[in-house]
Amino acid sequence: MSKQCRLAVVGATGAVGREMLSTIAARGFPATSVTALASSRSVGSKVPFGDGDLPVYELTTTAFKDIDLAIFSAGGGTSEQFAPHAVAAGCVVVDNSSAWRMDGRCPLVVPEVNIHALDKHNGIIANPNCSTIQMVLVLKPLHDAVRIRRVVVSTYQAVSGTGQKAIVELETQVRQLFNMQDPETKIYPHRIAFNCLPHIDVFLENGYTKEEMKMTLETIKIMEDPKIAVTATCVRVPVFYGHSESVNVETEKKLTPTQARAILSQAPGVHVYDNPSQNMYPMPLDAAGEDATFVGRIREDETIANGLNMWIVADNIRKGAALNAVQIAEGLLARDLLRVKNKKAFLS
Ligand code: A2P
Repeated sequence: MSKQCRLAVVGATGAVGREMLSTIAARGFPATSVTALASSRSVGSKVPFGDGDLPVYELTTTAFKDIDLAIFSAGGGTSEQFAPHAVAAGCVVVDNSSAWRMDGRCPLVVPEVNIHALDKHNGIIANPNCSTIQMVLVLKPLHDAVRIRRVVVSTYQAVSGTGQKAIVELETQVRQLFNMQDPETKIYPHRIAFNCLPHIDVFLENGYTKEEMKMTLETIKIMEDPKIAVTATCVRVPVFYGHSESVNVETEKKLTPTQARAILSQAPGVHVYDNPSQNMYPMPLDAAGEDATFVGRIREDETIANGLNMWIVADNIRKGAALNAVQIAEGLLARDLLRVKNKKAFLS
């Protein structure tokens, strides 16, 4: 480690925050201290860390005085409000919310795809949307080989992506239904147990949801190619952990499924799991708890000249959130980028 790294995890009591702490401990992230921050509601509670636990402190504008690096996962509003104060205190921020992703000052990074983007950071680095991360890990090596022109993606997203309260909602609804009770609906607009909701985040004027437009816009920013057209349908499904995606790509040059498998088997962070004759294909049950992004069902799209269909699955809390953020933090240390050039850059 080039210098001391006093680390804070903001949103430490949440589903992603807890995974963040577990990932930091498991990977031996070289922090000289780790501070857990959350809302005033959690002050006095503890969160597990390594073999012990950490006391939870309240997130305030002055909480970053002795912190060098803060990883935020406490929602967009919290990031918008507090990340500028962290930067003003000289603390570099890795933010898991959507608040800064499309801000031109903030790199949007999937380390296996565009680690170089870190070099131009101005204090806040954005962690992409969970569904985007697992998709671009697979798309980038294919794009490098045969130029992707169009992507049609449909997602099957786990409730953990909505946070701890949504995990409890699915559990509770299943229990209530098995006990012949009316299920309570608090987090989602409709029952999620034994149902699918084609509705993630808010609806926009163009008829898409914000989640769908995140996949379109973030993919272009990370892959640094505005010519890639991405159209998405995002669906919440009654799965606890692991997002799945059906992805159709149209490419400039032809790529056979065998060639695609060969390319993807060399891609960092990607695991090809594709043997349908043996019933081997990625599933969220298997991907949960794993670091890799799994791809299978690779087959030709027989309706166009140059097209492939694939099925991509990853643990949305791990690679889709906590692990990617910690890898960004590791990249900052490895590239000696743990400094803020302009402390006032994000203060309005
Ligand atoms: P808290 O537990 O104190 O509410 P999840 O996505 O699983 O719902 O987790 C959200 C995380 O963000 C939790 O740790 C939550 O803390 C934290 N959080 C939410 N709002 C705030 C806020 N205004 N200030 C600080 N932390 C917040």
